[in-house]
Amino acid sequence: MILVQISDTHIDAPGALVYGHFDTAATLTRTVEVINAMDPGPDLVLHTGDIASHGSAARYASFKQIMDDLNAPLAVMPGNHDDRDALRDAFGGTPWLPATGAFLHYTIEDYPVRVICCDSVIAGEVPGELCAERLDWLDARLCEAPERPTIVALHHPPFDTGMTGATSKGLLQGGGELDALLRRHGQVVRVLAGHAHRPMTTSFGGTVAFAAPTTCYPFALETGPERILAATHEAPGVAVHLWLPNASGAGADLVTHVAPVGDWGDAITLRKNGERVYAG
Ligand SMILES: [Fe+2]
Ligand SMILES: [Fe+2]
Repeated sequence: MILVQISDTHIDAPGALVYGHFDTAATLTRTVEVINAMDPGPDLVLHTGDIASHGSAARYASFKQIMDDLNAPLAVMPGNHDDRDALRDAFGGTPWLPATGAFLHYTIEDYPVRVICCDSVIAGEVPGELCAERLDWLDARLCEAPERPTIVALHHPPFDTGMTGATSKGLLQGGGELDALLRRHGQVVRVLAGHAHRPMTTSFGGTVAFAAPTTCYPFALETGPERILAATHEAPGVAVHLWLPNASGAGADLVTHVAPVGDWGDAITLRKNGERVYAG
């Protein structure tokens, strides 16, 4: 199973440069080209939120127009910049998005690794939360299939990222409760998040938690006391999660790569099928 995670695409008005510098539609278009060029291609592309800078029918139409070229199936989740109603209208009819209910949370059951997508948004707020109702929903989903390896995804990192500014702490509440909940469900192989606009990994809830790179403008790694939040011209990227047989041969593990999106020139092939082909 190959799962590509994209996040924080922040699509804006056509032709607009976000913060005067970032053509988020262009980088998403390039991202789609990179994903389509994968061989083998992914089984699923999961978007972990902040689809648009300001969620609206027009922005989601622009996003869908770009993503129409994607070969793989796509599932999307809400982030703090998204609008639940507009998102539900735009993606209604997809097999995963609930047609009713206060939260846009759902499960994806079609692959060797089950994916549980949690809605961590507080409407109108930058940070998120997992309230008691959402934690109960997640607990019930995890109780359904205790033997199935499972990814739990949410937009806001449930851990402190160590960065300053609004990205330092993703959840206003529910992080500690989520940690304790996951420790009761040993099938969770990864917690996936977005929001931080740069990749990072930590231990959490007795498993591994990972925040994805963004396809728009990465945030600088700022750990100083001035609480600076800065958008940078570092390369955008995607995460590629591979479900691979593990070293024991008795199971499988989720191996996560980060692939920058950009033009890097031609690769130099060194080996093919294990044989050295580089003659230089
Ligand atoms: Fe974002
Ligand atoms: Fe966000």
